Amino acid sequence: MTSQSAHPVLHGAVLGLGMIGRHHARLLQTSPRVAFAGAVDPVGDRHGTLQDPARLFESIAALLAAGPVDFAVVAVPTEEHLVAVQELTAAGVHVLVEKPLAATEADALAVIAAVEGAGLHGAVGHVERCNPALLELRRRLNAGEIGRPFLIATERIGPFPDRIRDVGVVKDLATHDLDLVRWLGGAPVTQVAAQVQHRMGREHEDVMLATGRLASDVAFNCVVDWLSPTKVRRTRVLGERGMFVADTLNADLAFYANGTVSNEWGAAEQARGVSEGDMTRFALARREPLLVELEAFCDLLQGIEGTGTAVTLREGLETVRCAEAVLRSASTGSAQALEG
Ligand SMILES: NC(=O)c1ccc[n+]([C@@H]2O[C@H](COP(=O)([O-])OP(=O)(O)OC[C@H]3O[C@@H](n4cnc5c(N)ncnc54)[C@H](O)[C@@H]3O)[C@@H](O)[C@H]2O)c1
Repeated sequence: MTSQSAHPVLHGAVLGLGMIGRHHARLLQTSPRVAFAGAVDPVGDRHGTLQDPARLFESIAALLAAGPVDFAVVAVPTEEHLVAVQELTAAGVHVLVEKPLAATEADALAVIAAVEGAGLHGAVGHVERCNPALLELRRRLNAGEIGRPFLIATERIGPFPDRIRDVGVVKDLATHDLDLVRWLGGAPVTQVAAQVQHRMGREHEDVMLATGRLASDVAFNCVVDWLSPTKVRRTRVLGERGMFVADTLNADLAFYANGTVSNEWGAAEQARGVSEGDMTRFALARREPLLVELEAFCDLLQGIEGTGTAVTLREGLETVRCAEAVLRSASTGSAQALEG
C-alpha cells in the first residue's frame, strides 16, 4: 500500500461528452490526480465542458496520437461500450466503463476478455454505490445496526430522458437497482420475477417491477420507470431492529427504529408486529459520487488501498445477466433462477 502523493498523475481521457460524460470531463480536468488527456466525441463539445478546445478529438486514434493516455472513462451509448473498450485496451489503456457494463451478456463477456486479455484494469461506473447516503447505509448495515436484514426495496422513477435510444429502462436505469440490492444485501441474486410495460410506444420497455431473492435469503423489490411526472430515488432496507431509508437524490439517510415503548394507544399496532420507534436523520458529509468513483478507480490503478468502491467488471457482468433475467421473466411470465 502506498500513498497518493507517491504516485505521478494519471493521464485520463473521456469518450462521449453527453449527459454523464461531461461530468466525467469536468472532474478529469480538475482532479489533482489526473492530467486531462482529452475527450472524444464525434458530435463535439455540445455542453461547453472543455477548458481547452484543442483537447477535443474526433476519434480514439486521434486522442492516442496526441499524447499518453493511461485510462479512459467510456461514456458513450451502452451499445457502443464494447467497440470502444476493444480499441482502448488494444492500445494499453485502462477503462472505467459507464454502467451498464454492456448492452448484452455476450458484449459484457467480450469487454472482460478485452481488458483481462490485455492485462489491464477495468471497473464499472455503478455510481450509486458512491452516493453518501448508500455508503453510510451499507456501513451501518454491516455494523449490524438493524440486525439481520430481510427486505431491500428500491424506487427509481421519473420522466423519460429523451436521449436514451439503444436500451430500455431495465438495462439503463434499473441496472442501478439490480447492482444495489446485491451490494447492500451482500450476496448475488438467485431468483427474479418481473413485469415490464411499454407505454411510450418505443421499441424498449419503460416500466419495470421486479421482485427476487439473494443468496443471503434477503428478498428484494424494485420499481423503476421513465413515466412518472416526478423524480424519486429511494432505497429502503428493513431488518430485525428497524428500517433504513436512503434518498439518493438528496443524499439523505434516515433510520426508523422499531418501538420499544409500550402504551395503550399503540397496543393494537404491537399486536400486528412492530410499533413505531424513534426516527433519526443522519448528518452526512456529502461528497460528489462521481468524484468518489474516479478516486476509487485511480486508487485501483495505483495500487492504493482506498475505500474499495471500484466496481469490478465481473460484478458489472452479473448485473447485466440479472437485467437479462428480468427481461426473460417479463416475456415468459415465469420466475428466473440465476447462479448464486
Ligand atoms: N452512472 C450514471 O448515473 C449514468 C447516468 C447517465 C448515463 N450513464 C451511462 O453513460 C452512457 C452514456 O449515457 P449518456 O446519458 O451520457 O448518453 P448521451 O447520449 O447523453 O451521450 C453520449 C455521447 O457519446 C457520444 N458518442 C457516441 N458514439 C461515440 C463514440 N464512438 N466515441 C465517442 N463519443 C461517442 C455522443 O455524441 C454523445 O455526446 C450510457 O452507457 C449510460 O447508461 C450513466
